[in-house]
Amino acid sequence: RPRVLSGIQPTADSFHLGNYLGAVRQWVAMQETHDAFYCVVDLHAITVPTEPDALRRRSRVAAAQLFACGLDPEQSTVFVQSHVREHTELAWVLICLTGMGEAARMTQFKDKAAKFGESAASVGLFTYPILQAADILLYQANQVPVGVDQKQHVELTRDLGQRFNHRFGETFTLPEPFIPKEVEKITDLQNPTAKMSKSSSSPAGILDVLEQPGPLRKKVMRAVTDTGSEVLFDEENKPGVSNLLRIQSALTGTPIPDLVARYEGQGYGTFKKDVAEAVVETFAPIRERTEKLLSDEKELDRLLAIGAERASEVARRTMATVRERVGFLPKL
Ligand code: TYM
Repeated sequence: RPRVLSGIQPTADSFHLGNYLGAVRQWVAMQETHDAFYCVVDLHAITVPTEPDALRRRSRVAAAQLFACGLDPEQSTVFVQSHVREHTELAWVLICLTGMGEAARMTQFKDKAAKFGESAASVGLFTYPILQAADILLYQANQVPVGVDQKQHVELTRDLGQRFNHRFGETFTLPEPFIPKEVEKITDLQNPTAKMSKSSSSPAGILDVLEQPGPLRKKVMRAVTDTGSEVLFDEENKPGVSNLLRIQSALTGTPIPDLVARYEGQGYGTFKKDVAEAVVETFAPIRERTEKLLSDEKELDRLLAIGAERASEVARRTMATVRERVGFLPKL
């Protein structure tokens, strides 16, 4: 079986629709066909200032949501990144193979650092994509299901893996990003040319998986639509409506042209109501399962310990090879 690895940051109290459609839904599907490793990347979360209690809470909420979305702990290895020490260890080796200029070209760093002012951003934020490369290479992943915002990081991962292989001998599998076009970038409901984002969307622009039906409906009904009144797919001139069409299509499995035909001559109202229902119907059962999983922390922590154990086995094997190839003395 080909191997798949992906990760999600525990930086909010819920995943949002972009995380779900752009990533987690593919993770669930791929556990059927791949040897699957999925991690809650708490080491990445601390690249920006993080409060310890919030980090603990959000890491559990993230794990619970992954199971609630359909990841099966028997089929998938679901774990917390900091539980597997090899992530930081390999990251260091890769940091030493990365050029300053190469790291400085990462656009997500530039965007995030701009918010703090570049000199106030942590060095950890600068090296963030290299830690991500370590996550992927450690498990010899073939596929990395992510949104399009992560494409550059997967490319860096390939470059670093290839560089290591050239310098020290064939060690790493070079991964491919897996990015379904239709859901590669779900946009902000209030700002439909920008990505829906935990860190930069306003609450009205973001649909949280754990949100109640009332606010979810309200946000969809108030989503920015475009001039005119026709439901048409036109990313250039109708980015708001096009985003809602993409969302509805993904959630209901109906092709976009069929949706466009269905709403012909009906205006935005009925259309938005249906989008809202599709969102509520998808999220409500996930929310309920998440709450149930969170009510038994012991059991959740037990599942994560099993995941960490399975992940560690693979990670240890890769790191043993890396240590030897790099020239670190074996410890007797
Ligand atoms: P994160 O936590 O920001 O997001 C998790 C996943 O959700 C996708 N995503 C979106 N997809 C479509 N539309 C959107 N609006 C949208 N917003 C987010 C992201 O692309 C991502 O796939 N660096 C990663 C976490 C990470 C990782 C890894 C991923 C760490 N190590 C190893 C893959 C492999 C991140 O910040 O994801």
